[in-house]
Order: sequence, then C-alpha cells, then structure tokens
Amino acid sequence: MVTGASGQLGRALVEAYADADVVALTHADMDIADEAAVRSAVREHEPDLVLNAAAYTAVDLCEHDPEPAWRTNATGPWALGRACALWDVPIVHFSTDYIFDGTSDRPYTEFDAPNPQSVYGRTKLAGEQLLRQTARRHFIVRTSWLHGAGSANFLSTMLRLGRQRGEVRVVADQRGSPTFTPDLAAAVRALAATDRYGTYHLTNAGACTWFELATAAYELAGLDVTCEPIDTATFGASAPRPANSVLDNRMAQLAGVAPMPTWKDALPAWLSSSQLR
Ligand SMILES: NC(=O)c1ccc[n+]([C@@H]2O[C@H](COP(=O)([O-])OP(=O)(O)OC[C@H]3O[C@@H](n4cnc5c(N)ncnc54)[C@H](OP(=O)(O)O)[C@@H]3O)[C@@H](O)[C@H]2O)c1
Repeated sequence: MVTGASGQLGRALVEAYADADVVALTHADMDIADEAAVRSAVREHEPDLVLNAAAYTAVDLCEHDPEPAWRTNATGPWALGRACALWDVPIVHFSTDYIFDGTSDRPYTEFDAPNPQSVYGRTKLAGEQLLRQTARRHFIVRTSWLHGAGSANFLSTMLRLGRQRGEVRVVADQRGSPTFTPDLAAAVRALAATDRYGTYHLTNAGACTWFELATAAYELAGLDVTCEPIDTATFGASAPRPANSVLDNRMAQLAGVAPMPTWKDALPAWLSSSQLR
C-alpha cells in the first residue's frame, strides 16, 4: 500500500512495485492524518507493506503557516504507525536531510543528532519520533533533493527557466545529494525486503551544490544558459536550509542494499524520462 501515490516519490514507488498487487492511495483517496480512515484502509487492504510517501512538502510556506505541516508530517506517521502496529504490518516512512542543521563538515550518519532549523524540518523529525514510538516494524528512510520523472522539482524548474530566460541565478553555498526517485524506490524495495528495521539514509552517491546541479543539467540538455552563483542570503527563501546536508548511506549498505548510482550518472535517465512526459 503506497500513500501519497501521486507525489513524485509515490509514483516511483508504485512503478518499482509494478509486479506486485499495489494499492496506490492518493491524498484524495486517504488523508494520512485521519486516524479512522487510515485504520479502515489498512483493515480493508490487508497490505504486506505500507510505504508512506505522503507529506506536506511546501518548505517555505510552513514558516508562515505551520499547522498543515504538523498535521500531515507528524500526525500522519503517528496514525499510520498505530494502524500498522495493530495489524503487525511493516512500514517504510520517508524523512529528510532538513532534520540536520548543516553545520557538520562531513556527511551526516544516522547516529548524528538532528537539529532542524525550519518548521518543515521540525515536523518531519516529529514524524520520525512518533513512528518509532508507534510501529516496531518500521524503516525510516531519510533522503534528499528529490527529482522524479515528469514532476515539478528543482531540475524541471531550472530547465524551464533556462529555456525561457537564458540566464539564471542559483544558490552555490548549499551542498547535498540530488536523488532520482526511481533509484531511491529500487533501493527502498531492497531494504524493505529485509527485516532490518530502523533508520537509514538513502540518496544517490556523491554530492554537489544547487549551482553545480543546474550547470550539469544544462550541459547534458545542451542548453546554453548563463548560470550565476549566488549565496543563500541573496536568494532569500523564507525557510533556513542546511549548508551541508550530505547523507552517509553506510547503514543501508551494511543491511545489504547496493550503493545507488552517482547523482551525475542518474541525470540522463531523469532527463529522458522527463522529456517523455
Ligand atoms: N522533495 C524533496 O526534495 C525531498 C527531500 C527529502 C525528503 N523528502 C521526503 O520524501 C517524501 C516524498 O516527497 P515528494 O517530493 O514525493 O513530495 P510531493 O511530491 O510533495 O508528494 C507528496 C504527496 O503527499 C500528498 N499529501 C499531502 N498531504 C497529505 C495527507 N494529509 N494525506 C495524504 N496525502 C497527502 C500530496 O498530495 P496533494 O499534493 O494532493 O496534497 C502529494 O501527492 C516526503 O516524506 C518528503 O518529506 C522529499
């Protein structure tokens, strides 16, 4: 059972399990923060596994209006965790690099202390904690900088703006690991086939800045775009972002999950899948 099935990760998960009997629930089908609805969906569908890709992901809007984020990102995993515990169903839940403050000078491990700086990050950390408290058979998968096939994300925005304007300004002082959702979905399937419950970091390998990511995408797409590096303060987003949010994937590899391709190797697949849709 996949929740948030029409989101960019939800769609990749549904595709990754295409050979299974997938129950794909969109927001319209089920509100994950509605405990009664969640309980009745798990009772009705009797899933072997729940994958929760539903989340409130409007990072900047959360700063001004936190309630929807607390409702979905904290109450949601709590309701799902309780229902999964009741029927002893394993659950995969997704969290974010934004639970870290970004001050580390090395990639973050699962054992580093979270210290979210944004409302979004705080709601996602609360969701992790509530899931741990409710469902024993949980996988909490922290990931970063997602781009799915055919969905709106940083890369699709950059390509659109580059084509329209021929010049863009891109933040060059935040570092992370861009992650292609089909690669993540395949790694999640491998992890969820084990019984090694716990908290994991899963991203494409390697790291870059948003500026480097945009530049690589323009080069690959053959677009002649003037890309100007700017800093976070100049960009002026409402929510603070970590300067370094690279996630060390070692625990997943110790659990037998093959390392994911580098973010750069994943770009051609993203570009061709995006242009097909
Ligand atoms: N995007 C990133 O760069 C990124 C980075 C790190 C971690 N993550 C995490 O990865 C996961 C997937 O993110 P994503 O980028 O795929 O997000 P997304 O594209 O925004 O998809 C989220 C989905 O959840 C649905 N949803 C929102 N509130 C809901 C609710 N109360 N009940 C049921 N469904 C609800 C949304 O439907 P509506 O649009 O119809 O409301 C949407 O289809 C999230 O846990 C996110 O925190 C994302």
